[in-house]
Amino acid sequence: MRLILLGPPGAGKGTQAERLVAKYQIPQISTGDILRAAVRDGTDLGKTAKSYMDSGGLVPDAVVIGIIEERLKEDDCANGYILDGFPRTVAQADALKNVLAGMGQAIDHVVSVEVPNEDLVERLSGRRSCKCGAMYHVTFNPPKKEGVCDKCGGELFQRADDQEETIRSRLAVYEEQTAPLIAYYEKAGLLRRIDGVGSLDEIFGRIVEAIGG
Ligand code: AP5
Repeated sequence: MRLILLGPPGAGKGTQAERLVAKYQIPQISTGDILRAAVRDGTDLGKTAKSYMDSGGLVPDAVVIGIIEERLKEDDCANGYILDGFPRTVAQADALKNVLAGMGQAIDHVVSVEVPNEDLVERLSGRRSCKCGAMYHVTFNPPKKEGVCDKCGGELFQRADDQEETIRSRLAVYEEQTAPLIAYYEKAGLLRRIDGVGSLDEIFGRIVEAIGG
């Protein structure tokens, strides 16, 4: 299954992708995670991406499309994948379609996770992350011990772009550049809308139902 998780920053794409990986045994491909790892490692890609990410803007299409093109050729993608945070512009969606056509593939479902803006700000400002990839929320999904990852014991941190001012910029960028993809995929007959407000289990159940179990 080739699935796109579409939704604004903080909609819960990463949280739900982790559960979908466990259920369907296919990889999550998060351009945000790939870019953050590059920034951490200080690679050329990371140096290019950092200023865009810190300001809440999008990394240029050509850079991100190049990353995805390479990633989709890897062996673990043979049975499908969950795209989280890609595509984010119409140009990226067009490029994805062309890359997949060249591989004799196509996207099966696009799930749009819908959450009101007030909730998004609260979710993102309270998010805490761990180097191991685990994610928490100070109120909605707290770790057992404050500031410490349940899974690996690592120290939790707040993402650089989770400051309120940057969150507002990211939401504006989403409205302007990414929200048009909802109509794009609706027109293609691939869009499934789900209510992204509720418990993590409820939302997971809605996604699984939307994509046919
Ligand atoms: P990226 O990492 O993709 O960030 P994003 O899209 O802004 O999404 P988030 O990771 O912030 O949110 P999410 O929807 O995954 O929510 P989460 O599950 O964490 O991108 C970061 C940056 O990289 C971009 O700004 C851009 O610069 C660059 N970039 C990435 N991809 C790009 C691309 N394709 N093109 C160009 N640039 C690109 O949940 C959020 C919080 O809410 C957590 O604390 C969680 O515990 C909590 N939560 C989750 N579900 C619920 C619930 N149901 N109820 C209450 N709380 C919940």
